[in-house]
Amino acid sequence: MGFVSILLFALGCVHCSITCCSSAEVNKHFFPPGFKIGVANAAPQIEGAWNEDGKGETIWDRYAISQPDTIYDHSSPQVASDSYHKWREDLEMVKEMGVDHYRLSIAWARIYPDGYKTDKPNERGVAYYKNLLRSLRALNIEPMVTLYHWDLPQKLQDDFGGWLSPKIVDIFADYARTCFELFGDEVKWWTTINEPKQICELGYGSGVFPPAINLPGVGNYQCAKNVLLAHAKAYHIYDKEFRQKNQGKVSIVIDTIWFEPNTTKPVDIEASERALQFSFGLYGNPVFNGDWPAVVKARVAQRSKQAGLKKSRLPTLSPEEIALINGTHDFLCINHYASHMVSALSDEPPFTDTSFDADIGVNDSIPSEWPKGGEAWFAVWPPGMRKLLVWLKNTYNNPEIVITENGFSDNAGTLEDDHRINYYRDYVSNCLDAIYIDNVNLTGYTAWSILDDWEWRVGYHSLIGMYKVDFNDPNRARTPRKSAGYFTQVAKNRCLVDPKDCVH
Ligand SMILES: *[C@@H]1O[C@H](CO)[C@@H](O)[C@H](O)[C@H]1NC(C)=O
Ligand SMILES: *[C@@H]1O[C@H](CO)[C@@H](O)[C@H](O)[C@H]1NC(C)=O
Ligand SMILES: *[C@@H]1O[C@H](CO)[C@@H](O)[C@H](O)[C@H]1NC(C)=O
Ligand SMILES: *[C@@H]1O[C@H](CO)[C@@H](O)[C@H](O)[C@H]1NC(C)=O
Repeated sequence: MGFVSILLFALGCVHCSITCCSSAEVNKHFFPPGFKIGVANAAPQIEGAWNEDGKGETIWDRYAISQPDTIYDHSSPQVASDSYHKWREDLEMVKEMGVDHYRLSIAWARIYPDGYKTDKPNERGVAYYKNLLRSLRALNIEPMVTLYHWDLPQKLQDDFGGWLSPKIVDIFADYARTCFELFGDEVKWWTTINEPKQICELGYGSGVFPPAINLPGVGNYQCAKNVLLAHAKAYHIYDKEFRQKNQGKVSIVIDTIWFEPNTTKPVDIEASERALQFSFGLYGNPVFNGDWPAVVKARVAQRSKQAGLKKSRLPTLSPEEIALINGTHDFLCINHYASHMVSALSDEPPFTDTSFDADIGVNDSIPSEWPKGGEAWFAVWPPGMRKLLVWLKNTYNNPEIVITENGFSDNAGTLEDDHRINYYRDYVSNCLDAIYIDNVNLTGYTAWSILDDWEWRVGYHSLIGMYKVDFNDPNRARTPRKSAGYFTQVAKNRCLVDPKDCVH
């Protein structure tokens, strides 16, 4: 899972007696022909082997190991689910589920330990991914590969400030080219960067994630620009040098909560639209339309001016930069877990408050009746999935959409996880509604996650796998939860209800 907001560590459901999200009616349609069902995880959350076989140190290794107090349970990614050693077993689990694709990420620091391109990439790191990808192919499971899932090589942060500096753009592009060269024959679905909002806002804005740079309303936007340029360069490299030969697709993965307006009052509907544009559009609009969303440009410029600044805290995109970023998508990848409710604020936040939240300027809350997942931001409201898909269709001119993450976390980790089953049923049902009722071109769904993993600052406090991992066991034994059986049935039947009741 990627998305974590600043409301870390709060309640969650301690004893999950969740009658989670029983919806009125489960959609009875089969998935459309060719629809891809998959499961996901990411290198820094499952691999472990943090310093083995030549891997370099990442910003998450440094942060969690040197400041264990920052992590809920003082855990670190050093061992995590140990998938670096147990990948064959993990692929068996994926195969047994009967899914079409497996989403994974490549750890940059396994390929180039310091992040910089060198004469030769690290052979043992390369071999690990080659084996993994070839084995997936042999099992007839399509790999979907993310180049960057938050694990910046520490050296790039130390040398020039990581994503705050435009230097990162060409260095990332070099790494991307190397991955396309090395793995392009195996991989048809590439995504460049996972959840830029979390990288930029939490890493360089509020500073609650490594590299813990606290530059609210400044660092997050600088980072956003560099992330977009890095993504765009990688996209063009694929387009020019690899597409013809490898025939793959490339995109970026953007996450958002659905922000449901509390009332039908125009000011609340505007608040919802504004929250979506800051959260999703900050990345989606440049990639689809070339520039920052108009509302983001206007608000940040206005609030900067009122605070007496000479120019907007939001950096401009030059015509050349716009041309580079515009249209760099072959499909739209989204991560979505939760909904919040928003309404207009009665007063504009003080202009001296430069934070991203103040720039957004909405009243964000969670209705008490919505069930909660393993973290405070995680409010379950399945209709939000359908509404988000329709919003994306309308906002970005009906693109092909793939859901690259969706799933349910809790803190109990019970094997009888009916609440997780209900979550999948109701969220996927809303995906089918979006396809069959709203004509959204959704072509794939990826569940997060196949197995429990290291969930960043909440460590192992938040459990989200269909397979339980025993983190107290040095062997990290895996045990299927009830949801693993459920999801296997869904993947096999290609339908959410009893197959004899399914309709085309
Ligand atoms: C982005 O590209 C589209 C399609 O070519 C074009 O219509 C649009 O004007 C471009 N956006 C900007 C901001 O230049
Ligand atoms: C935000 O909304 C909540 C719930 O409606 C309300 O109690 C609170 O006063 C609002 N806060 C502001 C600052 O408008
Ligand atoms: C929605 O608005 C109503 C009426 O103003 C208010 O009582 C309620 O607290 C709001 N709910 C949320 C979740 O903001
Ligand atoms: C969905 O997108 C794919 C890929 O662009 C395209 O081939 C297909 O025709 C689209 N389907 C619909 C119903 O628009």
